[in-house]
Amino acid sequence: MRLRSCFLLLAAPVLLAQTRIEYSEQKKVWLLHTDSSAYALGVNPRGELETLYWGGPVWRIADIAGATGGRGQSSFDPAQSNIREEFPGWGGTRYLEPSVKITRANGQRELVLHYSAHAITGDDLKIVMKDLSDDIFVTLNYHVYGAEGIIRKSAVLLNKSKQEIHVESMQSGTWSVPHGEGYRLSYVTGRWAAESQLTREAIHTGTKVLESRKGHTSHNFNPWFAIDDGSASEETGRVWFGALGWSGNWRIAVEQTPYSQVRVTGGLNTFDFAQPLKPGESLESPPFYGGYAADGFGGMSRRMHRFELTDILPHGLQSRLRPVLYNSWEATTFAVDEPGQRALAEKAAKLGVELFVMDDGWFGKRNNDKAGLGDWTVNPQKFPNGLEPLAKYVNSLGMDFGLWVEPEMINPDSDLYRAHPDWAMHSGDRPRSELRNQLVLNMARNDVKEYIFTVLDKLATQYPIRYFKWDMNRPFAEPGWENVAEPKELWIRYTKNVYEIMDRLRAKHPQLEIESCSGGGGRIDLGILQRVDEVWTSDNTEAFDRLGIQYGFSQIYAPKIMSAWVTDVPNMNGRSTPLKYRFLVAMQGALGVGSNLNKFSAADEKLATEMIAAYKSIRPTVQEGNLYRLLSPQQGEVTANEYVARDGGQAVLFAFLHSQQYQRPAPAIRLAGLDARATYRVQILGLMGTMDYSGAYLMENGITVRLSGDYDSSALILTRL
Ligand code: DGJ
Repeated sequence: MRLRSCFLLLAAPVLLAQTRIEYSEQKKVWLLHTDSSAYALGVNPRGELETLYWGGPVWRIADIAGATGGRGQSSFDPAQSNIREEFPGWGGTRYLEPSVKITRANGQRELVLHYSAHAITGDDLKIVMKDLSDDIFVTLNYHVYGAEGIIRKSAVLLNKSKQEIHVESMQSGTWSVPHGEGYRLSYVTGRWAAESQLTREAIHTGTKVLESRKGHTSHNFNPWFAIDDGSASEETGRVWFGALGWSGNWRIAVEQTPYSQVRVTGGLNTFDFAQPLKPGESLESPPFYGGYAADGFGGMSRRMHRFELTDILPHGLQSRLRPVLYNSWEATTFAVDEPGQRALAEKAAKLGVELFVMDDGWFGKRNNDKAGLGDWTVNPQKFPNGLEPLAKYVNSLGMDFGLWVEPEMINPDSDLYRAHPDWAMHSGDRPRSELRNQLVLNMARNDVKEYIFTVLDKLATQYPIRYFKWDMNRPFAEPGWENVAEPKELWIRYTKNVYEIMDRLRAKHPQLEIESCSGGGGRIDLGILQRVDEVWTSDNTEAFDRLGIQYGFSQIYAPKIMSAWVTDVPNMNGRSTPLKYRFLVAMQGALGVGSNLNKFSAADEKLATEMIAAYKSIRPTVQEGNLYRLLSPQQGEVTANEYVARDGGQAVLFAFLHSQQYQRPAPAIRLAGLDARATYRVQILGLMGTMDYSGAYLMENGITVRLSGDYDSSALILTRL
């Protein structure tokens, strides 16, 4: 993150014909266009940068009033409190959340940023801001993802002064919605096995902070926000939204000022944060992506999903559809061995599984969670001939082979710990806090990073591994770091080094895919998603609970990313749902199976085979189509989601009944996103016979899905004729 670089004065602004960025020299205003939104900012007479517009598309830059600098209302309410500053440093008369805060070696702390230069290159805009006294610069970088409706902000702080500075806050940027009140905030919160619980509440004056102080993204909050005009619904109303691309400590502060302004500042968490910058060094913030939807929360999610599929995932639109996966964890836990895994693999292959993943337990002395993490050599009792025979056997069955790893962790009972106790995060000789009997490796250290890279590289070279499930099962504690000038740098360097390992592995092994898991959904964000192909959504695989978790997840992240397994019942909460229900819930994302296949009856096998075959026939629609959340699991007895293929040729409706009371009939479900003029052939999954309806009828009248009793479910496949 810290780079030596030299500052070049930017060339005079050039407006390329194809650019989505306009500039008015006369007004000092930039207008950024996406297909579905616009964003404007400008320089006021004091040289400060102000947000001028964020909303639906506007095409006339002349309509955007230049930045005025506002007016102070009293000696207590200066002008800066009344304007929407785009990236305020802390200094002068500023009392709102700053985007950047520093202390110089001489003790001076003010950083007052004024416009200095800018450049437009294609869909990129750079604006250079400079402190009014010192050679301390901030370059604001904007990129416009025009078709996707997303704008990326990030910032680089460069110390060109003659003294060292200490950065105390480095944010990616501030998003300000139009002046006013009555807004609502949506965010997801949760905990292990209960991630992604969608919460929506009124924004009141004051600051609400969503954050992680745990070292990873965390199950507790996800780095995403949505603000609506107070009345948006799933398909109507104005929604402004944003998400950070960072998997370490992050922070999003949603602030409604007493001056009727709602602003969202996000970036690196300021908690326990410190970054020294010597003269010539710089610090870059993570990216903060933002968008606007005039078509409600559904419109917001569809834009986010498209953006992730196109611009975030490692291979973008070239990524393969996610294969149907089998994972051994819930079937065998730590008791893996070659005969046992072979038997599961044979059964999985017969069902139509395409990727067989062996989970925890294959290495070191890993017979439970008390030992072995760190010793990434194959356990000779369980696999006397190494992993090769199993991996090759899996391949011979027509499946790819995947392997679970937890590279960032170490058990005190491991050879690695006995050799390198100093590699575990610790604070001098103070006690080391274990969680799940494990400590966190200090991945900020370059020797640890290199060691872990070598271990994973060796595994990927030695065996035909197509897929790593990369797990991380505890947050940080005692984040000390000896013999470095600033131990607090650990927070950032750790994440950077994890990213680097993944980037290098992928570059060296182009076929390799990675799943991000952190005890379920503890590391899901737009930073890790640039390096992994899917995420483990939650350790809670109980199908009814999953409907709620998937509902929250889908607000932000695309179904293709959302790994969803069918597992056994009764599940962790004691609930039992029918196998069909479990399949249909999991078929709404990247389908996997985690059941103990040794216990499957012939009827279970038959149903599973049919369901997997059906899933393959709707997979592009589910994974890469447009999602319409028709009925929310947060309301009523029926949950319904519809997926419409990108080319409109297929649509799939999933419907679930929780507990029917008083024989109340399930409501007619109005579909969305169809062609009103087209006719669709509707088939109920698993039943013979079809019915034809117009898109208009299906969207206006809706369709009645037969559901009764407890945990009933159905899927309808629509083919445009
Ligand atoms: C936590 C993961 O979420 C599970 O799926 C499984 O991989 C275990 N770790 C293994 O220890």
